Amino acid sequence: MAITFKSVDFIYQAHTPFENLSLKDINLTIPDGSYTAIIGHTGSGKSTLIQHVNGLLKPTTGEVVVDDQTITGTTKNKELVHLRQHVGIVFQFPESQLFAESVIEDVKFGPINFGVTNEEAQKRAESALQKVKMPQEFWDKSPFELSGGQMRRVAIAGILATNPKILILDEPTAGLDPQGRREMMELFAELHQKEKLTILLVTHQMDDVANFADNVIVMDRGSVAKIGTPTEVFSDTEWLINHQLGLPSAANFAQKLISHGVQFKKIPLDMGELVDQIINLEGKGNRHE
Ligand SMILES: Nc1ncnc2c1ncn2[C@@H]1O[C@H](COP(=O)(O)OP(=O)(O)OP(=O)(O)O)[C@@H](O)[C@H]1O
Ligand SMILES: [Mg+2]
Repeated sequence: MAITFKSVDFIYQAHTPFENLSLKDINLTIPDGSYTAIIGHTGSGKSTLIQHVNGLLKPTTGEVVVDDQTITGTTKNKELVHLRQHVGIVFQFPESQLFAESVIEDVKFGPINFGVTNEEAQKRAESALQKVKMPQEFWDKSPFELSGGQMRRVAIAGILATNPKILILDEPTAGLDPQGRREMMELFAELHQKEKLTILLVTHQMDDVANFADNVIVMDRGSVAKIGTPTEVFSDTEWLINHQLGLPSAANFAQKLISHGVQFKKIPLDMGELVDQIINLEGKGNRHE
């Protein structure tokens, strides 16, 4: 399901003294099947942007088109029921939204809410819990007996059980330890590759962008500042530094070497590329002379 924003403005609390123009003339297309990272400073409009994809927020002007559904400021919620089944949003700290008596009941809530039978909801919940690698011994426990990372997996399973085609993740690894982060990112990569989900990932982790995304949207004060592949976006290091945006660790390290006069053919985005290029630099330089 491709996603297109056409001249979208969004104002929070319009026509009040508190009104806030949070999206300004957004024009972009996210291709079906892509893994798109959305980056930018705090307050740049990332969360506001993603909530337009299932019509949780509706454009003040302009329109958002997802597959064959157009969302404008006057679209009614009942027109969006079908779309919302296909667009799953995992909000920041989703574990705070768990509520049911058991893990399995929590995961079943979404599909039941969309009108599937109890039997079908049970099947989907079991499959979703397997996808997020939540062992069966936990399924009948209270979600509140789980660790923070496990609770987050249950919340993600609850979204997966609605069978989304687009999975939107708003800073999904915030607050997890390094191993928890790695496992979570591997889970999303698997869902992207095996289940062919289109992924929109809001993140401040530039290494995750470099390692997983194929498309990057940079937001800046409510506008799209740049769109491109990670290579395109991260190759303009001066622009990124001027916008106080971070670089992936490998690019950052290369940048430090560049400031000491080392030349790179291209800015490396991951450690493998960095090591390859350094080995080649050395081969041409000191070692054989
Ligand atoms: N409910 C709201 N009412 C009024 N203004 C809001 C509301 N939510 C967000 N804003 C404002 O809209 C702008 C964009 O906020 P948004 O939450 O989309 O930013 P963000 O890029 O997701 O930031 P962060 O990285 O901190 O999550 C900010 O100026 C913010 O203050
Ligand atoms: Mg946000």
